Amino acid sequence: MKAVTFTEYGSPDVLKMCEIAKPVPKDNEVLIKVFATSAHIGDTRIRKADPFLVRLVFGLFKPKKNLIPGLEISGVIESVGKNVTSFKKDDQVFALTGFGLGGYAEYRCLPEKVKKGTQEKKGLVALKPENLSYEEAATVPAGALTALKNMEKAKIKAGQKILINGASGSLGTFAIQLAKYYGAEVTAVCSATNFELVRSLGADQVIDYTAEDFTKSDKKYDVVYDAVMKLKKAHCSTILKKNGVFLNNYNLPVIEEKDLLLLKDLIERNKLKPVLDRIYSIDEIVEAHRYVDKGHKKGNVAITMGKIPGGNK
Ligand SMILES: NC(=O)c1ccc[n+]([C@@H]2O[C@H](COP(=O)([O-])OP(=O)(O)OC[C@H]3O[C@@H](n4cnc5c(N)ncnc54)[C@H](OP(=O)(O)O)[C@@H]3O)[C@@H](O)[C@H]2O)c1
Repeated sequence: MKAVTFTEYGSPDVLKMCEIAKPVPKDNEVLIKVFATSAHIGDTRIRKADPFLVRLVFGLFKPKKNLIPGLEISGVIESVGKNVTSFKKDDQVFALTGFGLGGYAEYRCLPEKVKKGTQEKKGLVALKPENLSYEEAATVPAGALTALKNMEKAKIKAGQKILINGASGSLGTFAIQLAKYYGAEVTAVCSATNFELVRSLGADQVIDYTAEDFTKSDKKYDVVYDAVMKLKKAHCSTILKKNGVFLNNYNLPVIEEKDLLLLKDLIERNKLKPVLDRIYSIDEIVEAHRYVDKGHKKGNVAITMGKIPGGNK
């Protein structure tokens, strides 16, 4: 099968298309024919070995042999192992691939279920939201789960005021919608070019970070979510209420199967939708990573793996 791999850490040019053996599902696994994946910021960070911790997980001096990026996928079940009961051939699914990555390939095997608390490591599969295309669905799992766990950590409640920094990125666009779903009042920080986007997702107030230092404002928030990870808690001491919560994607509650099911439900009830900035084909993966590396994408970037049944978007 076709897959993208890399044998050294570095610029997008290290990503190379190659032919590798098609995987065979174990008794507890499903084999997914991948229709779409994403150019997730996590994939770009692994490719760059940034932060250094990446090397401890994925290979100290160079990436482990046949390391295929791809943190999230959508596709159909092609076959199932003999112990699998909750999925069948032709089911449309979306999935987090976990630390095993492997989304930049025509096929990916994932376990049907794993022990609670190991989903982030071993992956998580669910039926795809019916109202999303494969391209949209492939950009949901990693970003939306991270945004959801941040909201859960803050125990966000109706009437609370939350400021989201980096509101126009992948995490930010999911977080705005989730915070609104929980009834919070949202202040979105992004550049003025993205005001319309974040307002369309539900932001009540907007701040242009290029024109105003929101950390010096006299407004107070129950929660400050630095989705784009540019700040420290100390920077926000003036704008956080007493006992206010600072979030920055660290030390989150563990991801569980119910979380992906909640996202599917919210999407199908039109409470949540992924923002798709661009779609590239897998043959354009180098350009896709180059675009994400610039740090200014709006929401998410999907990658298609060839022809999608029903048509590519
Ligand atoms: N996505 C995930 O699942 C995930 C999970 C864990 C950790 N993280 C980490 O979280 C961070 C954000 O991830 P992401 O996927 O949301 O990133 P992203 O989609 O690449 O964020 C890009 C957006 O951030 C905005 N931005 C850039 N610099 C900014 C600044 N100084 N202040 C406010 N906004 C700024 C950009 O808006 P402008 O174009 O207007 O500048 C752009 O819309 C990354 O460091 C990533 O490694 C991500």
